[in-house]
Amino acid sequence: MLDKETIRRNRREFIKRATAAVAAPTIVPASALGRGGKPAPSERITMGVVGWGMMGPGNTRNFMNEKDCQVVAACDVDKAHLEAAVSTVNGRYRDGGCAAYSDYREMLARDDIDAVMLAVPDNWHCLMSVEAAKAGKDIYGEKPLARTLREQQAIVKAVQENGRVWQTGSWQRSVDNFLKGAEIVRNGLIGKVSRVEVGLPAGHHDFAGTKDKVAVTDPPERLDYEAWIGPAQMEPYIEARVHKNWRWNYNIGGGQLLDWIGHHCDIAHWGMGWDDTGPAEVEGEGEFPVPDAMWNTATKYRVECRYPDGTPMTIAGGHRDIRGGTRWIGEDGWVQVNRGHFSASDDAWVKMKRLPEAERREELYYSPGHHRNFLDCIKSRKPTITPVDVAHRSAVPGHLGLIAMLTGRKIQWDPVKEEIIGDEAASELMGRVYRGPWAMP
Ligand SMILES: NC(=O)c1ccc[n+]([C@@H]2O[C@H](COP(=O)([O-])OP(=O)(O)OC[C@H]3O[C@@H](n4cnc5c(N)ncnc54)[C@H](O)[C@@H]3O)[C@@H](O)[C@H]2O)c1
Repeated sequence: MLDKETIRRNRREFIKRATAAVAAPTIVPASALGRGGKPAPSERITMGVVGWGMMGPGNTRNFMNEKDCQVVAACDVDKAHLEAAVSTVNGRYRDGGCAAYSDYREMLARDDIDAVMLAVPDNWHCLMSVEAAKAGKDIYGEKPLARTLREQQAIVKAVQENGRVWQTGSWQRSVDNFLKGAEIVRNGLIGKVSRVEVGLPAGHHDFAGTKDKVAVTDPPERLDYEAWIGPAQMEPYIEARVHKNWRWNYNIGGGQLLDWIGHHCDIAHWGMGWDDTGPAEVEGEGEFPVPDAMWNTATKYRVECRYPDGTPMTIAGGHRDIRGGTRWIGEDGWVQVNRGHFSASDDAWVKMKRLPEAERREELYYSPGHHRNFLDCIKSRKPTITPVDVAHRSAVPGHLGLIAMLTGRKIQWDPVKEEIIGDEAASELMGRVYRGPWAMP
């Protein structure tokens, strides 16, 4: 039996030979031969995209802008979103080549798709990612890695066991000012780091403009609500907690803490060199709406972590003393980074574009663009700038923080074994019960 990688290579070889065979009579279009700077179809990475909501379209456009990538399929359980996806892709390529799916498993079954982009709500991350990895796809998956720690562990295992290339939507690592900040810290310019602060948003944000649509109704005909809920618990359809605003309900998402942990905590870890470890102790307190509120995720929170080397890190939303973004405070200075923001104790650091080469004893991974980096790594089979285990580690403090808030206890975590120590009830919260027929992979 040939493995999937060999089948795919053979397919490329076959197409290449077939193209060469017909090239002589000059009837092959220039684009097929790779002229005009566009690689031949046999050399392009074929991609299927799943989820056409807030994030899916932007990711897809970024991939379509890369000449060596061809989006060939789109999937969504909302027919209106699916139609928008297909018409956007076909409009971009000026053809009718984008296949439409409402069941991602049918898309994954296609042998002529190399990679998938998954931009679906968090309740779906685990099943889809694990199945995609097993189907031999390389995966661009969104942050946070998953809705629970157990799901994250399952994704890491499946991606690694199946040798897949994984890029996480934690795109801040591919942006200059975050790289500069992390490199300054990692190269010791601020001296020994005494504390790290991660400031995230608070409250709820009405992304979909549906906060007043709180009545229980039948789902719209265009939406397969049963499939949208998937492995989460069945709840009555309320428009205000479906598209985009699902993140404010723990049945599907994880509130601001988990929505943002994969961004600013990811950067904090990068600067500290903590990509292969995690906090040893986590305490947390939060303000929650009443349990049966339509949006029930914490609106204000503070998580105190202590890493194995003793360094403390605070993650907070809605606390004035913790500024938005990532702040590293050292014995010799400090650095603060956020989107479009860089400040530091030394003006020279603010002015420089990147830490000069001579000062880079430790050079961090440079990515020419987050989506570009994924495609490059699909070809080279090297790790991306945000591989699956890094995405997992970056989100662990958020998951443990939530568990600490829910139990009201300090959580002891073993970052090597990846288990909560001596607290059965807290350990239970590392996973969730799946709604049948879906089963935790
Ligand atoms: N990297 C970033 O900066 C960033 C920003 C926003 C969102 N995100 C992440 O992207 C993911 C999607 O978030 P969003 O805000 O775009 O959500 P969204 O609700 O706007 O869109 C999700 C889409 O997925 C579809 N969907 C749901 N279940 C599906 C299934 N089983 N099969 C196919 N399609 C399905 C929905 O119908 C919807 O069209 C989340 O993980 C979120 O955290 C990342």
